[in-house]
Amino acid sequence: MREVLSDTFGRPLTDLRISVTDRCNFRCKYCMPREVFGSDFPFLEKSQMMSFEEIDRLVGIFESLGVVKVRITGGEPLLRKNIHELISMLALRPLEIALTTNGVLLPRYAPALSAAGLDRVTVSLDAIDEATFAAITDSGHTVAAVMAGIEAAESVGLGPIKINTVVKRNTNKDEILDLVERFSNRDIAVRFIEFMDVGTTNGWSMEEVVSAEEIRDMFEDLSAINPTNKSDVAKRYSLPSGDEIGLISSVTEPFCGDCSRARISADGRLFTCLFSNKGLDLLSPIRLGYSDEQIASIITSTWNARDDRYSEMRSELTSELQRVEMSYIGG
Ligand code: GTP
Ligand code: 5AD
Ligand code: SF4
Ligand code: SF4
Repeated sequence: MREVLSDTFGRPLTDLRISVTDRCNFRCKYCMPREVFGSDFPFLEKSQMMSFEEIDRLVGIFESLGVVKVRITGGEPLLRKNIHELISMLALRPLEIALTTNGVLLPRYAPALSAAGLDRVTVSLDAIDEATFAAITDSGHTVAAVMAGIEAAESVGLGPIKINTVVKRNTNKDEILDLVERFSNRDIAVRFIEFMDVGTTNGWSMEEVVSAEEIRDMFEDLSAINPTNKSDVAKRYSLPSGDEIGLISSVTEPFCGDCSRARISADGRLFTCLFSNKGLDLLSPIRLGYSDEQIASIITSTWNARDDRYSEMRSELTSELQRVEMSYIGG
């Protein structure tokens, strides 16, 4: 039976984002700076992470509580061994299943992911210029490799593909028009994300944030496209060329009012906000033999008590709070 949950602001829980690993083959400066996430970093052990069976069971419980959309994230989700097997389990459910990736492993895995029933992928790409890309991702991977991943995904039907670009003023602001140009005349929308103060290791400062307003001003004759769902994070615009761009204005025009997203870390903790500092352990109850009903009731009471709206409350005071890292919780 499908219930509709409601939090203290009347927001339902429709969108579940699951991190399947806290590891990544990139070291983006704003997400996993090498000085912090080095070879001695205590990444999760396999035994601490949810198995595919445990993930599938949780997804079934969330589905009964109203979830219709699942996004697989990381870290880099394609680093999780045999991830297509998880997709084939989840694909038996009446859910939309998407995956966020940095793209470089797509040439290898896209065919299996598509065959397993994945609906679509979103690829993170912050620059077209190789030197800028290398400076941001600090990993030895190339724009060319990401492009090959995008082609591979497109050729097996994992579209419409979306590109996510985190914009930082002194790093890649001048890549914006080049990115739009590169994907012009293809069914691929580039979405520009305001650099957020997630985690505590990425050296965030407001000076580095390029506002959605500023990006809108870089284009002439944008026309707004009506949102499909009110909880969508991106504001969509079409250009005179017919291309589409998206703006994700989490800092300057926050969208907490319609936030219907829950996140689960790879070790099975439930986070009701991207900026939470602690998650609710769901994996222990699973391993202790709780029934689906008991786990559903834990989730229900947590969601009913939810009052998160961090981006709307962002202030000097909140910026002092301890926050979970994005590579752990998933974008
Ligand atoms: P679609 O179904 O493809 O529209 O997915 P989406 O836009 O919901 O997900 P995606 O992971 O592509 O989100 C893009 C980016 O928006 C993320 O990487 C985050 O930076 C940001 N974002 C997504 N959800 C939230 C949220 O709940 N709060 C905040 N502050 N930012 C978010
Ligand atoms: N601000 C905005 N977006 C971020 N991401 C990671 N860190 C940040 C941040 N500080 C995005 C990545 C990717 C997704 C997983 O999260 O670019 O698109
Ligand atoms: Fe990896 Fe994505 Fe974080 Fe970059 S932003 S380090 S690709 S998880
Ligand atoms: Fe949702 Fe928290 Fe993001 Fe606001 S800051 S949109 S409540 S995840």
